[in-house]
Amino acid sequence: MARARITLDRDFTLGPVPRRLFGSFVEHMARCVYTGIFEPGHPEADEQGLRRDVLELTRELGVTVVRYPGGNFVSGYDWEDGVGPVDQRPRRLDGAWHTLETNAFGLHEFIDWARLAEVEVMEAVNLGTRGVQAARQLLEYANHPGGTKLSDLRREHGAEEPFDIRLWCLGNEMDGPWQIGFKTAEEYGRLAQETARAMRMIDSNLELVACGSSSLSMPTFGAWEHTVLTHTYDQVDYISLHAYYSDNDGDAESFLASAVDMDRFIEAVVATADAVRAQGQHQKFINLSFDEWNVSYRHNEAEGRPTDAELTRDWAEHPPIGEGDYDVTEAVVVGTLLNSLLRHGDRVKIANQAQLVNLLGLIRTEEGGPAWRQTIFFPFAAMANTAAGQILRPSVTSDRYSTAKYGDTDVVDVSATWDEDEGVLALFVANRGLTEAASVDVVLRGLDADEIISAQVLTIPDGADRFAANTATEQPVGLVDLDGVETKDGNVQLALPPLCWAVVKLAVSQN
Ligand code: AHR
Repeated sequence: MARARITLDRDFTLGPVPRRLFGSFVEHMARCVYTGIFEPGHPEADEQGLRRDVLELTRELGVTVVRYPGGNFVSGYDWEDGVGPVDQRPRRLDGAWHTLETNAFGLHEFIDWARLAEVEVMEAVNLGTRGVQAARQLLEYANHPGGTKLSDLRREHGAEEPFDIRLWCLGNEMDGPWQIGFKTAEEYGRLAQETARAMRMIDSNLELVACGSSSLSMPTFGAWEHTVLTHTYDQVDYISLHAYYSDNDGDAESFLASAVDMDRFIEAVVATADAVRAQGQHQKFINLSFDEWNVSYRHNEAEGRPTDAELTRDWAEHPPIGEGDYDVTEAVVVGTLLNSLLRHGDRVKIANQAQLVNLLGLIRTEEGGPAWRQTIFFPFAAMANTAAGQILRPSVTSDRYSTAKYGDTDVVDVSATWDEDEGVLALFVANRGLTEAASVDVVLRGLDADEIISAQVLTIPDGADRFAANTATEQPVGLVDLDGVETKDGNVQLALPPLCWAVVKLAVSQN
């Protein structure tokens, strides 16, 4: 039995829970848009072709903001192709994914979808093949009320009111040699600076995200952020981070410790941003937008599926690339990544799980068929719908285990929030032990636990193993009641099964 002790003090807070931490991402890639959120003719589709079943699951997730339209896709995208009468929109080759883009779905359809999904729009501009002019024209089209060529064009296209998009990404992964229009930090820094300046001339009330590194392992990591922020510091509000973790090499112990990597990545970017702040004698702080994060599934090519290369060889429309069934282990890791993001909510103000549907999806769909919740859906929904009030800074003493990639790591991982108005403490706790249960003492300071409101856990279902997953026909993995939570003398004791992520809501009073 592993042991851990978590101390939470009502005075040790990091600030309010940033609601934009619970973002997701919709890219014109694979089956995320086409046959994901949009499928005209599907029995669940509305008159516009938006799938109501996917909308309902998106609202259930509690997603707050959705990044669109890419991703690598945006770096070759002409936004004008996606507006106006659908039958006049061009079919184009999408070089990023070697697929055929019909443009049947574009900006207006996404805005309509976002309204129905009750999410904020985070729009990316193309700084790969385009630049300042296309970005300011898109902004005029989207946000200017009317009386100009582009704002009137939007109105002609059926949107009388401006879209009022506040949050914009200045390109995507521009540090990556795979990116269409890949740039050096100097080239990108100057372009992002000038694009931001020109966009603010059109609309002064924007929040702008500069591209940081595509992962912590990029050879230019650190230097990239430093150069880009040196150019853009006065013009932008956020620097981006992207990270995907996978269980592909069979090292489950390291995979389960992925949040250690995320912690280090975040802390290194904060340090770099603050160094630029000091050097430039700036007043404001640059915050972080972790606008692509997730786990990717274990390869299932061995199961006889065609490879992604085979699926995209002939410029297919929305091929099912990158699809798979997430398992229990992957859901537990997603829970710990959410913990990492919440623990850094003083500086990470935006985070977008990538992607919402099908490819790397929280949700899966079948073309013409059902939509269902992947295993990773559950920790996301639980935290998005439960975290409230102030983020508490936990002090943790946990048994440790050794990992090849990240050294010794805590078996128990935690984040917590305290909602003073409601008198509710929320705990999000993972046991990374593959076979060992964990006993966790939660010591509260300045607070007394009066009552357990709810306690649920995602773990290995009875009779299954850690590879259990949800499919179109069977969904054995989800949140179930967690027995073994007790309050004692105002504190809490948790008995956690092996390999799990739990969410516990407690009624608390101040002492
Ligand atoms: O989310 C899939 C892809 O991963 C995105 O298009 C890209 O930005 C990242 O490399």
